[in-house]
Amino acid sequence: MARLIDAGPGCPTPTPSRSASRDGPGGLDYNSQVKAETDHLYPLASDFITPMEWPAIAPLVAAINRLKAEKNAVILAHNYMTPDIFRLVGDIRGDSLQLAREAAEVDADIIVQAGVHFMAETSKVLAPEKTVLIPSLEAGCSLASSITGADVALIKQRYPAYPVVTYVNTTADVKAECHITCTSSNAVQVVEAIAKDWNTDTVILVPDQYLARNVASQTDIRIITWPGACEVHELFSADDVQALRDAHPGVMILAHPECPPDVLEVSDFAGSTAALAHYVSDHNPSKVVLLTECSMSDNVAAENPDVEFVRPCNLCPHMKQITLENIYTCLTDMRHEVEIDEAVRQRAKSAIDAMLALPKLSTPLAFRTGLAAKEIEVI
Ligand code: 13P
Ligand code: SF4
Repeated sequence: MARLIDAGPGCPTPTPSRSASRDGPGGLDYNSQVKAETDHLYPLASDFITPMEWPAIAPLVAAINRLKAEKNAVILAHNYMTPDIFRLVGDIRGDSLQLAREAAEVDADIIVQAGVHFMAETSKVLAPEKTVLIPSLEAGCSLASSITGADVALIKQRYPAYPVVTYVNTTADVKAECHITCTSSNAVQVVEAIAKDWNTDTVILVPDQYLARNVASQTDIRIITWPGACEVHELFSADDVQALRDAHPGVMILAHPECPPDVLEVSDFAGSTAALAHYVSDHNPSKVVLLTECSMSDNVAAENPDVEFVRPCNLCPHMKQITLENIYTCLTDMRHEVEIDEAVRQRAKSAIDAMLALPKLSTPLAFRTGLAAKEIEVI
């Protein structure tokens, strides 16, 4: 079994609390029917849920899986979901790009977004005929709240000659004002493609200044950005990387491109959550660190039992709003339904469609590491 070493300081609770039925919906007992429906699932979570805890969690898992079948619902689970959600009730799992593509194609009447609000909006934009539910309205994102559609309208007035690319971690209002979206799996591809289309050497990439700075080091295109940041990834520093190397000689350090550029500079590999997972499976390093949200290590560790994970991770307080309990109530009470004004939806869809129309990458694009940060203009 993969070994997880907690290496603080960012992660006060290495495995986020999972008080399944303690505060959860009543009337869900661990009986012989639940046992029969869930016994085969326990091995998928036995590294995370003890045998003592399982009878408190299994009834919720069984109830959610029954509700999905009754209502023709699917759960799209982001890589940052806790393993109980990711492995036991998630139907489609992946990074933002994979979930956006699946939302457009999945054959279901209801999508439950086990992720944050902007992801649920993306699903609704791409699948307006489906009911899209988000289990908690508290599941926001510091990047999505850092910019508004009105901000982008002003940016376009100030720089009319340059295309505006938005990271998908934004509201539908913001996407509606932008020319194309990107994710961390394809940001460099999108920036280079739109620069070519517009015959320009300059692209505006909002709202994540760190993603923008990291893209700028990978391309000759000049990037202008916005002062947004992910509150989880901006906490990592190059000093953390050095401390990890000192404490764990030989460890491979993998970073998400929402980390500051000096972190990527000294890391061994960088890419989206999907790229980090691929790297571990393909290279099978003996010891690895994922500089990203905590649950990633839990989820990738389950697939890679021979790899030792050192975990200096940081929790995303927004992703952690999603629990088995609120997924269950979301399906019983059909809340919270995501609604988007139709004119906004159509304009946001154009920006997402422009991204999805680009050649599909066989694997997420990695960011080259070891590159010095470039100074870029911040609006
Ligand atoms: P990915 O696109 O890499 O899944 O990232 C989404 C996100 O919110 C990272 O913080
Ligand atoms: Fe937003 Fe950062 Fe949380 Fe991702 S990890 S949802 S970018 S706050």
